[in-house]
Amino acid sequence: MEMLNIALPKGRLGEKVYAMFEEAGYECPSIREPNRKLIFENPARGVRYFWVKPSDVAIYVERGAADVGVAGKDILLEYEPDIYELLDLKTGVCRMAVAAKEDFTDDPARPLRVATKFCSIAARHYAAKGREIDLIRLNGSIELAPILGLSDVIVDIVETGATLRENRLQVVENIVPISARLIANRANFKFLGARIEEIAAKLGKLTEAKE
Ligand code: PRP
Repeated sequence: MEMLNIALPKGRLGEKVYAMFEEAGYECPSIREPNRKLIFENPARGVRYFWVKPSDVAIYVERGAADVGVAGKDILLEYEPDIYELLDLKTGVCRMAVAAKEDFTDDPARPLRVATKFCSIAARHYAAKGREIDLIRLNGSIELAPILGLSDVIVDIVETGATLRENRLQVVENIVPISARLIANRANFKFLGARIEEIAAKLGKLTEAKE
């Protein structure tokens, strides 16, 4: 059986997602051993997993280095990779939101300074409202920007809301709900379609059972 290449997002989400693949019958016990390896395979199940930086999963899948993968909807909306989105895995649930200091008021007379890692999502959001913005691209600790006066607002992921609360920020506006998605390479789907559909169907049953 040809090995199916599966890109998983390294970290907490990836571990949850791997547990779903395992439960669906695509286990690969070596992945649970404590080591720094990035590639794991189980020839008996025809699967090869690799741990990829979460924001890179869609690139591996788009270019066919992985046949399937799991990426957050945030990444799919931001980079718009040319892939198939097969299934909402209903895990990694959070939302993209605009947040600001508790005393923030918008001054329509000048462009809104928006700090974010998600420049394309932010630009689209404000373009749709016809609001002019000054986009500030950051790579992490986005919450610092409004506190230090670098920006008026941030566009970022909110999960529990704890990060915002602990930094005295609050949600001003919700943009879009986010969750992990099963994605597939378009060309590889043509000849591996049956196996990929089988995985999607089994994972789909698991997500339904959890609802
Ligand atoms: C995300 C996001 C927030 C935090 C929100 O960061 O950027 O900082 O999670 O979660 P909460 O609402 O439960 O507090 P992440 O941990 O993914 O790391 P990052 O800073 O590298 O984006």
